[in-house]
Amino acid sequence: MQRLFITTFLLFQLVVGSRAKTKFGFCPPQLTPDEVYRRFGKSQKFYIDYNNGNDKWNGNLPDPDEFGNGPFKTFAGAIAGMRQTKKCVYAASGVVLYVRGGTHFVDKTVIMDERDNSLSIVAYPGDERPLISGAHRIPGSEFSKLDDKIYFAPYEGHCTKNVFLGRKRLLRARKPSVEEWTGENFTGEGPYLKIDNLLVNTEECNYDGTGGFKQACPPENGDGFVYADNDINPNWSNLQKADILVFQAWIAERGDIGEIDAKNKTVYFQERLRTPIGTHPKPSGWRYIVENVYEELDSVGEYYCDEEKGMFYFIPPEGALDTEDVYIATTEVVFEAMYGEDIGFYNLEFRHGHDGHFEGYMEDPGLLQFVLSSKVTIERCCFSNLGHTAIYVHACTDVNITESIFTDIGYFAIGAKFDDDFDNPMANKNINIHRNTFQRCGVVNMFQPACIIVQGIENIKVTNNDIGFSPYAGIRIGWQATFHWSYVETDKYVFYIERNHVHDFGLGLLNDFAGIYLSSNPECSEATLSLATCYLHAYVSRNVIHKTIPYNYGGKGVYGDTAASGLVVTENWLYDLSEAAVNFHCGRYNYALNNMIHQVADGRVFGVCNSIVGGNENEPLYQIMIFKENVIYVSNVDARLWRKSDLWDFFVPNLDYNDYFFNPANDTQKKDFFPAREQGKGVSFKKWQNETGRDLHSIIKNPLYVDMENEDFRLDCQSPALDLGIKSIDNRHVRRLSGIFGV
Ligand SMILES: *[C@@H]1O[C@H](CO)[C@@H](O)[C@H](O)[C@H]1NC(C)=O
Ligand SMILES: *[C@@H]1O[C@H](CO)[C@@H](O)[C@H](O)[C@H]1NC(C)=O
Ligand SMILES: *[C@@H]1O[C@H](CO)[C@@H](O)[C@H](O)[C@H]1NC(C)=O
Ligand SMILES: *[C@@H]1O[C@H](CO)[C@@H](O)[C@H](O)[C@H]1NC(C)=O
Ligand SMILES: *[C@@H]1O[C@H](CO)[C@@H](O)[C@H](O)[C@H]1NC(C)=O
Ligand SMILES: *[C@@H]1O[C@H](CO)[C@@H](O)[C@H](O)[C@H]1NC(C)=O
Repeated sequence: MQRLFITTFLLFQLVVGSRAKTKFGFCPPQLTPDEVYRRFGKSQKFYIDYNNGNDKWNGNLPDPDEFGNGPFKTFAGAIAGMRQTKKCVYAASGVVLYVRGGTHFVDKTVIMDERDNSLSIVAYPGDERPLISGAHRIPGSEFSKLDDKIYFAPYEGHCTKNVFLGRKRLLRARKPSVEEWTGENFTGEGPYLKIDNLLVNTEECNYDGTGGFKQACPPENGDGFVYADNDINPNWSNLQKADILVFQAWIAERGDIGEIDAKNKTVYFQERLRTPIGTHPKPSGWRYIVENVYEELDSVGEYYCDEEKGMFYFIPPEGALDTEDVYIATTEVVFEAMYGEDIGFYNLEFRHGHDGHFEGYMEDPGLLQFVLSSKVTIERCCFSNLGHTAIYVHACTDVNITESIFTDIGYFAIGAKFDDDFDNPMANKNINIHRNTFQRCGVVNMFQPACIIVQGIENIKVTNNDIGFSPYAGIRIGWQATFHWSYVETDKYVFYIERNHVHDFGLGLLNDFAGIYLSSNPECSEATLSLATCYLHAYVSRNVIHKTIPYNYGGKGVYGDTAASGLVVTENWLYDLSEAAVNFHCGRYNYALNNMIHQVADGRVFGVCNSIVGGNENEPLYQIMIFKENVIYVSNVDARLWRKSDLWDFFVPNLDYNDYFFNPANDTQKKDFFPAREQGKGVSFKKWQNETGRDLHSIIKNPLYVDMENEDFRLDCQSPALDLGIKSIDNRHVRRLSGIFGV
């Protein structure tokens, strides 16, 4: 048996070895058979084969034999079978469950607990990588033609927002349709319809007189709105099943259509939206999309699922059904481990997760969920076509998620949850998210989505990841109850966010976000608080953050919001951003040190307290900030160090040993680039130095970045910045080698 196994490995290497070098797409290269054997060779072995297995067998063989034995068929069956065997056979070095190639459909959560400790679930070396799917599959051949565009097939199951043609995401029949469907489109993508008026116009909240950032709107404006022309049609069938996706600013939320008053061209939702429409006039752009209307099934890539009729309709690209099947994601959680210890997943592919029809802020459901568990490993796996979160970790210790790929994720790819209970001995600790690649997160749920959200109380690490294509943030850190300033020793932190490449975020869909977005709990933004307990203790270093497009405003590099304190932002490359490179929204002992910045946006370079978080002029919130040894190369004549509504006139942040440079040079900018003592005004470098005693050792000289055109922000040996004690930072490898592609 052992021999046969090794032979299979060798054969596998001969056949597949050369292919491993070629470009991989949705999945990372697998751990080699040698490595699999090295790690799991001594474990007790079981096998599972969805296509040829049987849950009545004992799972000890990879293939059925003539004595009526062979692999398990389902994961539920395998878990039960292995528990049975483990009762009488002592497994010295744990248990490995080898998963044979092919698609394993899982329609009900497989629940694991302490009886399943020391279990590794690993792709069977030599087979094609197995796919674990939470979908109902309709084979392409089962579809019939309805008319010259629409195809249909009977479907008795539940309808979901997450349906795929092969690997391509289909969109619910929407108005307006996207211009060109590629299968990689975000549900929040334009074009859009435009709200024509508010239900209720008041003095403080109105459609015409504003266009500003924010206004105070009554809750009734969350009940519906007035549409233009015939944008919404009361004659649509199944109206109650249609949703409207309304853009607010940093969220877009869905409301189910309730009633339509055709005379007044007013649409009402079944339930009030959480943000009244009109609250953020300009950042919303009054945008909305109608989703899930049969009559709007008019473009390639759109579908309509009709639960009452038991029918699925869609418009495939020409010829696609000859080769592709349709997958309707129906399972929310495929695996859940509770009170588990030493559980791992290796070399597997996961696809098709359902969001449970959830709209709002919540990290779960995750396709893989780990609760009150320890020693969890996910390695060399790939996750795609999911409705909500790929991996959800709650109250866990020692979790490694490494060298995996996440693409087309409904909300978060990874959500690590802490429920603000410091007394819970199982609160998240030792979480490692290392060398993963993330592409396209927040594809469906737009409540401040990100590829990663991490919360916890000790040693939470996000390192060497490549994170791109999120409509909002790249990484969210904290957003939880915070710590006392003395919670960690000097130079120790709770969060370590290092060497990540965060790029292409915002995508023109939402506003007010950052590549790396840290936040405390909302109470910290109250003016009366001393802030001694608002510390996140986060170290953000050697990241490369660039290329952001907000819908209207926002798009920062690193953002510490709601007075989050104890943040060290150092040695990062921050360029091609649409707003501040670093923004500390109040807080204490927040440092930006030795960062390499190229400011191309017209806004502020550094953000500080303002009246939204910072109390008010009479009662400002305490801010202690240090911006030192940064290189700030400004290429936009409208950029300033400050912003009008920011409070630079009290507890003036400590700036020094910075190297500023302006290219092109501009006289106006020269006169008011630096913050004046009077709030909302600017002064020259000399006056700023004189009035505040800040930046006394700073210079205005070309720092001589090695090659800005090619995004190389190392300092030339002749750089005057070096004389200030600024170190040249080489982060080229972060961009090149982050994520699985650097493995
Ligand atoms: C759809 O997705 C493709 C690929 O990501 C993108 O190029 C395109 O702009 C998206 N939007 C539309 C409307 O096609
Ligand atoms: C809806 O149907 C009614 C009755 O057939 C028709 O009079 C009306 O014009 C239709 N409305 C729209 C917006 O198409
Ligand atoms: C239409 O709106 C007006 C006020 O704007 C209201 O008086 C009237 O009752 C509404 N009509 C219907 C049918 O609700
Ligand atoms: C996670 O990775 C770290 C660093 O590589 C390692 O020390 C630790 O043992 C790993 N934990 C698990 C559960 O594999
Ligand atoms: C300086 O920038 C301003 C815009 O902020 C522009 O109007 C002005 O023409 C510029 N001056 C020079 C000399 O380029
Ligand atoms: C500002 O300038 C005045 C007058 O030139 C001088 O007396 C004062 O010492 C300067 N203050 C600082 C902080 O440089």
